[in-house]
Amino acid sequence: MTTASLSGRKVLLIVGGGIAAYKALELVRLLKKSGAEVMSLLTPAGAEFVTPMSLAALTGHPVRQALFMPEDETAMGHIELSRWADLVVVAPATAGLIAKAANGLADDLASTTLLATDKKVLLAPAMNVRMWLHPAVQANVARLKGFDGFHGVAVVGPDEGEMACGEFGPGRMAEPAAILAAIQGLLTGPDGRPLAGRRAVVTAGPTFEPIDPVRGLTNRSSGKQGYAIATALAELGAEVTLVSGPVALDAPVGLNRIWVESAREMQAEVQKHLPADIAVMSAAVADWRVDGVASGKIKKAPGGPPSLALIENPDILAGVSKPGKSRPKLVIGFAAETSDLEANARAKLSRKGCDWIVGNDVSDDVFGADGNAVTLFTKDGGADVWPRQSKTEVARKLAARIADHFKA
Ligand code: C5P
Repeated sequence: MTTASLSGRKVLLIVGGGIAAYKALELVRLLKKSGAEVMSLLTPAGAEFVTPMSLAALTGHPVRQALFMPEDETAMGHIELSRWADLVVVAPATAGLIAKAANGLADDLASTTLLATDKKVLLAPAMNVRMWLHPAVQANVARLKGFDGFHGVAVVGPDEGEMACGEFGPGRMAEPAAILAAIQGLLTGPDGRPLAGRRAVVTAGPTFEPIDPVRGLTNRSSGKQGYAIATALAELGAEVTLVSGPVALDAPVGLNRIWVESAREMQAEVQKHLPADIAVMSAAVADWRVDGVASGKIKKAPGGPPSLALIENPDILAGVSKPGKSRPKLVIGFAAETSDLEANARAKLSRKGCDWIVGNDVSDDVFGADGNAVTLFTKDGGADVWPRQSKTEVARKLAARIADHFKA
């Protein structure tokens, strides 16, 4: 059995109705022990076998049980919950749940979540042997496995053996340790970590350009989008260096954060961490710095305010994009625009020499917000529109696109 850590990984466990539901509790315990964060969803039939209290106590989170619960929906909507997870696990997966998922039926919380998720789903079927062997169930499982796309369906078990109903054959839910091993394989194996072995350099936040020892020029970038991108790349297995300007964000786990202040410091750190496979330059680098920074605090003088002479900062993105031995294989820039997003972003893409550019319309509320609406423009003329969603979701989409790029 593998023992890979699931630290920082998020699992949504859907507990269906069946006698095997008691094993879901042991699964939660094992998942927590290996470092995963677990949220659970209990179907009405599942609640006939295990209590929401047990699941809440073991996961450390409230248990979701119904679709139309205003308190649940305002805490974390069911769509958000389906995206929050890195993996959705259905254990036990009943014939009913499998049938709904295979046919796109969404008439309760579990089936709606299964349809809404953009993550892989792991099914641990559990049912009577005759039910499991029924061609309808087999056809539904085959149909689910056959769906193409980034997020597919994996199945663990069922095991063969004596069943609670006294019959013998395949239908017993896989043991919790085997389900855990399957989860570890999906989240930390080549499937779950497609960027393993890749190096990435990400810039984030504003820069701070000193005027004198106490004052400076900066901007409103919160760094949230860049931090989310660095985190999403690390989640997919990349070795990430995050070169960050001054922001009020904690260092994400599992990556190397380097603090800088000025654009020139940021550029030096970026260069130091090349070569890399991926560069994502999301920092809002100040275009200018003050020429001749005063060594002491500039005093108020009767003659009026001092005038500041500004000089141009180096363009970090353009420098990284220059052809050469240390040019990352994929260089991604950002274009914050208030008008003509496509034209301006495309012009920037070619001017800077990068491969992709993430255009965002900043005429709306973006700075410091948790949501973002972006379009990804690629050098080959492609454009992917990602409507407003959380910065974490934007980051995960971008990381998934990057992984696809390297897979191809
Ligand atoms: O030219 P503009 O600042 O709009 O370009 C934005 C893109 O260029 C972002 O990816 C930003 O991180 C990068 N940039 C840079 N160095 C600069 C200015 C911008 O890397 N001096």
